[in-house]
Amino acid sequence: MKISDIGEKYVMHTYNRFPLTLVRGEGMYVYDEDGKEYLDFVSGIAVNSLGHNHKRLTAAISEQASRLIHISNLYYSEPQCTLAQKLVENGSLDKVFFCNSGAESVEAALKLARKYGSRTGRQEIITMVHSFHGRTFGAVTATGQNHYHEGFGDMLPHIKYAEFNNIDSVKAVVNENTVAILMEPVQGEGGIIPAKKEFLQQVRALCDEKDILLMFDEVQCGVGRLGTLFAYQHYGVVPDVVSMAKGIAGGIPCGVMMAKKEVAESFAPGDHASTFGGNPLATAAGNVVVDELLGGVLDNVREQGAYLEKCLDELLKKYDFIKERRGIGLMQGIELDRPVADYVAKAIENGLLLVNAGKNVIRFVPSLIVEKKHIDKAMEILDKIMEY
Ligand SMILES: Cc1ncc(COP(=O)(O)O)c(C=O)c1O
Repeated sequence: MKISDIGEKYVMHTYNRFPLTLVRGEGMYVYDEDGKEYLDFVSGIAVNSLGHNHKRLTAAISEQASRLIHISNLYYSEPQCTLAQKLVENGSLDKVFFCNSGAESVEAALKLARKYGSRTGRQEIITMVHSFHGRTFGAVTATGQNHYHEGFGDMLPHIKYAEFNNIDSVKAVVNENTVAILMEPVQGEGGIIPAKKEFLQQVRALCDEKDILLMFDEVQCGVGRLGTLFAYQHYGVVPDVVSMAKGIAGGIPCGVMMAKKEVAESFAPGDHASTFGGNPLATAAGNVVVDELLGGVLDNVREQGAYLEKCLDELLKKYDFIKERRGIGLMQGIELDRPVADYVAKAIENGLLLVNAGKNVIRFVPSLIVEKKHIDKAMEILDKIMEY
């Protein structure tokens, strides 16, 4: 029986998969069961920050696995404590909570906001239309796209939606019960839509004025993707709380929620927890990712991001069915005037892995170690499939 047939038979059908079984990866490339090579511009949807089979990362994982894979958060571990230290010392937030995924890191932020608000009796959280925050009940309620809610009954109460990049819309829903505003600095699943700097500054000012927490979901746009360790550093607007996951441990499940000291203090022991959160294996990997980012990979993101942007702009000029290019650094998208599913499928046939973001947007989120030659090759394939 083929692997894909076994999967179809035994794995719950929550994904529509491409007919592709991948068996190994090396740098920017992955290989299927027949040995066919694919240039990977998906990187596990912004997860494999250092590409595939990164020597320092795999060595750290295997070394840590042989030393200590897991302990409980009843005890301290060196990889967890040093990763927290690096994240704090290289950003503007003071305390770290570790979990295992993006939805969990958002869930932790929502709970922290509720706990913070309990002191003043406030519990309403505002999120943005077209946002995506994950699939747990809290995170999916925060997600401002109705189709993710349909069929699941009542969503969590006390969450309201405002229009992204529209300060008047935010002001219109803020009231005396509002405790936090949550948003992605660059909306990912919603179609690669960057926040305007002015909007983030206006929301920051509003939050300061009304003692409302500004919370950024950097699950997709953080961890170096915009050319800075944290997405908020690209914008120069510091939130009170930030959620991260995906690329933070290069593919080992790991989520992070960080907060300013005075906000973090709302959580007391027992208020929130995670069995696996920040375990030695995941955080050993996270240490390598952060070291590599700070040791030169961020410079690469800025350089290659600018190059990718330029190449996509050339494509935009060439094909009138490409409506717009959007994005920052190595988080880019092109919006077509039609669904992109066929283009993504054709790219795969031609040896290039791409992923959509919504119906009409092709997303480009390669590993942060991508080089000019990989971008050139991706553009060559893209140009070919656009001609069809
Ligand atoms: C911005 C954002 N937040 C949260 C999530 C959920 O992350 P996870 O799938 O790890 O739960 C995602 C996933 O795509 C995301 O893009």
